[in-house]
Amino acid sequence: MSTAPWWSEAFGADYVDVYPQRDLASARAEAAFLVEQGLHGRVLDLCCGWGRHLVALADLGLDVAGLDWSAELLARLRSMPEAAPVADRVVRGDARRVPFRDATLDGVVSLFSSFGYFGDEGDQELLHGIARILVPGGLAFLDVMNPAFVRAGLVLESRTERGGALLVERRSLAGTFVRKEVELQRAGVPARTWREDVRMYEPAELDDRVRGAGFQVEARWGGFDGSPFTPASPRQLLRLRRAGS
Ligand SMILES: C[S@@+](CC[C@H](N)C(=O)[O-])C[C@H]1O[C@@H](n2cnc3c(N)ncnc32)[C@H](O)[C@@H]1O
Repeated sequence: MSTAPWWSEAFGADYVDVYPQRDLASARAEAAFLVEQGLHGRVLDLCCGWGRHLVALADLGLDVAGLDWSAELLARLRSMPEAAPVADRVVRGDARRVPFRDATLDGVVSLFSSFGYFGDEGDQELLHGIARILVPGGLAFLDVMNPAFVRAGLVLESRTERGGALLVERRSLAGTFVRKEVELQRAGVPARTWREDVRMYEPAELDDRVRGAGFQVEARWGGFDGSPFTPASPRQLLRLRRAGS
């Protein structure tokens, strides 16, 4: 059994097939909302995946950069015609150690549960890293799960057939973590299995953590539709402002 951290193995080129709903069209709507809420200028998409939000934000006139750990997803990005405009704006790296100079970016986004992977210390390190590279008064948008929503609706097992592939997902809760064992079976290739193990943050705890990293919590929505956050909201989307002006 591999001793590598789960996040270094979970996100392969097949992410695009596993999550087809996380596409460029949805990214365009999400990016438009973020821009409406103040995102502007030089922006880093931390954990950018195959770059769908980078493309959408660049089309809205922002000066984008992306960082991701997955060599496979970055290769996929470089091979996808949709992502061609941002292919030279991405770098491979660890989200806890962002290779940008202090106070150089106007905005950082972390979208679709790309936070909660690294334990208490690592998650805090990541937040401090975001604060470090933002200009004083810069904005961060953090989009994570709403634990109450996850607990209320957890589907223990699902089997999805799509395009000749079978995706089996088994989910469980372990304290503050939501765990997923995934198997992807496709004709002609060996089945791929991986796990995901994401720490969920209650709103109050998340607020404490981001404040500890030097942010003010300016807004919390229940999703990219701008709905107010409630315990029934599918997501927690936070707008954070780095201290200073
Ligand atoms: C749930 S996906 C979200 C991707 C993208 N934000 C989106 O909305 O399509 C999480 C992403 O985090 C990346 N990731 C995981 N661990 C990382 C790390 N230590 N450093 C940088 N990226 C990481 C994965 O490769 C994956 O692309």
